[in-house]
Amino acid sequence: MTSDTHAPPPYVTGLRCLRCGTEYAPDAIEYVCGCRPNVGSDLGTLDVQYDYPAIAAATSPAQIAADPDASIGRWSALLPVHWANLPPLPVGNTPLLYAKRLGSSIGLPNLFLKDDGRNPSASLKDRASAIAVARAQEKSAAIVATASTGNAAAALAGQAAAAGQASVIFVPKTAPQAKIAQLLVYGSRVLAVDGSYDDAFDLCVAACQEFGWYNRNTGYNPYMTEGKKTVSFEIVEQLGAAKVSAIHAPQPATRNSQLAPPDAVFVSVGDGCIIGGVHKGFKDLLALGWIERMPRIYGVQSADSPALHNAWRDGREIPRPVAATTRADSISVNAPRDPVKALNAVRQSGGAFVLVEDSAILAAMLPLARLGAVFAEPAGAAAFAGLQAALAAGLIKTDETVVVINTGSGLKDVPAAMQMAGEPITIAPTLAAVQSALNSSTKSTQTD
Ligand SMILES: Cc1ncc(COP(=O)(O)O)c(C=O)c1O
Ligand SMILES: [Zn+2]
Repeated sequence: MTSDTHAPPPYVTGLRCLRCGTEYAPDAIEYVCGCRPNVGSDLGTLDVQYDYPAIAAATSPAQIAADPDASIGRWSALLPVHWANLPPLPVGNTPLLYAKRLGSSIGLPNLFLKDDGRNPSASLKDRASAIAVARAQEKSAAIVATASTGNAAAALAGQAAAAGQASVIFVPKTAPQAKIAQLLVYGSRVLAVDGSYDDAFDLCVAACQEFGWYNRNTGYNPYMTEGKKTVSFEIVEQLGAAKVSAIHAPQPATRNSQLAPPDAVFVSVGDGCIIGGVHKGFKDLLALGWIERMPRIYGVQSADSPALHNAWRDGREIPRPVAATTRADSISVNAPRDPVKALNAVRQSGGAFVLVEDSAILAAMLPLARLGAVFAEPAGAAAFAGLQAALAAGLIKTDETVVVINTGSGLKDVPAAMQMAGEPITIAPTLAAVQSALNSSTKSTQTD
């Protein structure tokens, strides 16, 4: 590791535009290619390139597994930032749970849940925001800003607080209270935009240009994919451990140098950045020769926010905007900002986009928690609803090993959880009241 933390990271060779193919030197460009720099779905999205032979020569899965740093930092050879600049709020190393009872309930014995709600700010977005703050620090930025449906912002606020980095956040004013509370408590300057997430996004880009802030926006900042991809590194490592310890270990060991890809991965999709990151992670490992095949990647969207699904179905490269209304606020997006990476993830891996109704998304929260012990916000539960739909459509064979990623904790949206779980029984502080409550709840269970 070089001691000059402001120099380009050792293994990044450049950035390539996925729209026109232009290659840029590291640090010659920060956000999007000049072929399409304006906001909207049709951006000149950049993909970060690495020197894989040099990485393979310098490290190995065994060396990475033995790293005392349990966080995403131990994958720093595959990251676009210096390890020393990652904020001191460790991200990643979330559990991969063997979901035996949940799997049995849908006839899928090899089902695993990657619970990314257990990141420091309780969503997968911590993986990207750690990279954003590290880059902002490397650029000596006074302020880092983002637009977000809520989770990316909460993650940025937490990582920024850890690093002592000032931040400005643009969220739609309808974002759930828990997410807004996180921003305020961590000390970000919060601008609640009276408009949609898409309005907040465009405003944030304009403000960053005007005031010279470092912009973390999803799909616009190419480095966010590089943080999100670490979820795939952990999945193959943890699945390798599960297989080594004879599959179906109740709780797979966290670290292992044997990497085992699943057959299929399910993840919910809004802008398309997470799914692009999932794909990039597996692509990195394939390029290194550390895994031998690409898992099929399934993107799950709400029928009330289906822009990327529709583009995939219609064979389009750029999605047509929709008027998104889904209750799963984190995946409510009119004009997805990372469409090229998202569509490549599904098309190149042989997966599919799956649409689910909002009612199925909310309903999925209960089996996930009651049989899988994972408390997910609606956008996280959508991935499991997508698996159910894919099974029904015959897209998944019952002997396949499947990973469902929960992208956000259920504590992010308590009203949605209460809507599904119901209210507790209020009683007087007496045993008689306990007895009568038990009788009435038994009766109601019997009549259900
Ligand atoms: C919990 C959760 N799930 C899924 C997503 C969708 O990610 P993307 O917008 O990158 O597709 C988000 C994004 O905000 C999220 O917060
Ligand atoms: Zn370009």
